[in-house]
Amino acid sequence: PFDVYNELLEQSPVRYDENRSCWDVFRYEDVQYVLKNPKLFSSRRNRANRESMLTQDPPKHKQLRDLVNQAFTPRKIEELAPHIQNIADDLLAPHLQQGQLQLVYDLATPLPVIVIAELLGVPSSDRDRFKEWSDILVKGARNDSDEAFQELMEEKDRTNAELGAYFGRIIQERRQSAQDDLISLLIAADIEGEHLTEDEIISFCILLLAAGNETTTNLITNAVRILAEQPELQQQLREHPEMIPTAVEETLRYYPPIVAIGRVAKEDIELRGQQIREGEQVISWVGAANRDEQKFANSDTFIPDRKPNQHMGFGFGIHFCLGAPLARLEGRVVLNTLLRHMDRIALVEGTQLEPIQSAFVFGVKEYPITFQ
Ligand code: HEM
Repeated sequence: PFDVYNELLEQSPVRYDENRSCWDVFRYEDVQYVLKNPKLFSSRRNRANRESMLTQDPPKHKQLRDLVNQAFTPRKIEELAPHIQNIADDLLAPHLQQGQLQLVYDLATPLPVIVIAELLGVPSSDRDRFKEWSDILVKGARNDSDEAFQELMEEKDRTNAELGAYFGRIIQERRQSAQDDLISLLIAADIEGEHLTEDEIISFCILLLAAGNETTTNLITNAVRILAEQPELQQQLREHPEMIPTAVEETLRYYPPIVAIGRVAKEDIELRGQQIREGEQVISWVGAANRDEQKFANSDTFIPDRKPNQHMGFGFGIHFCLGAPLARLEGRVVLNTLLRHMDRIALVEGTQLEPIQSAFVFGVKEYPITFQ
């Protein structure tokens, strides 16, 4: 979609899309303006299955986020590094001798699911169910027929109910005896006597599955895709592994897993001469903003040590991705590990890339690679 973004950035930076009945905002400056003004652009949506911090505005958003922050700290995440390394090694081990890997299926999909399951403290025997649940949660249906849409909504409701019951049981168990896991920390979170309710903890756990799995899968896949498309980068990063963290950031700018973020106008607003009315949907195209030449010189070039790099792949403002430290860590561990074990990473010849069917997501369904 990136060629299209470039045209839109120039020709219609703010436009109304008749087909989808929403406003589109493309330029960096404008996207930032939308995302940093929750008073004007609300995160509340009418169709949310379950309320979570993602779909709340201040002051409720801040109350939830502050409490959750007590449990979900960068230190807690950094502690996961050796686990993530072990998980990556275990997933890769059976394939290293074969010289081939179904990247999405064998590594990029299971890794984040296992990490979140471990973080939350759910038993590894439930991982397959986890994966099924999280897949259903992120399925989009914008382009489907009304019937298919209705079915999907029912499927999502069912999944939410199943997950609710599932996490409800774990919360009960942890209230009896706390473990060294995130759910126990969420139960203990306390700001001046305020706690998270059981419902809020459940919603947060479900949000982690919905927000953390497919996004990280696509970060890993998109990063490896760039390595396969630009083989000279592989040797460069192998010789300079200290560049891997900035290369992960550049992936989030260049091929962001989430290209669009939705809001609703809370009042009539004029933007670049266009009149947005209260109640209308506003889509911030961070995928386009990340390619805005006004902000990023040589914006269509992947520069592994680009600095500064204020991409909006994790959003911006009060809803800035809570899981960013975890996603970055997973991206770093995977790139490091792949580059250490694999030479000449390439897409299997003749593969037709099939994009994920969601306008908000940038990723492919499969990415088989060969290596030496
Ligand atoms: C929010 C992207 C991984 C948890 C967001 C937002 C973006 C985003 C763009 C802002 C949404 C908005 O403004 O409406 C990504 C990407 C990821 C990733 C690209 C992977 C590369 C994760 C992970 C987790 C996570 C691993 C947790 C385990 C969350 C949560 C929020 C959020 C809880 C809501 C924060 C709030 O509303 O205050 N993410 N995310 N994300 N993300 Fe991520």
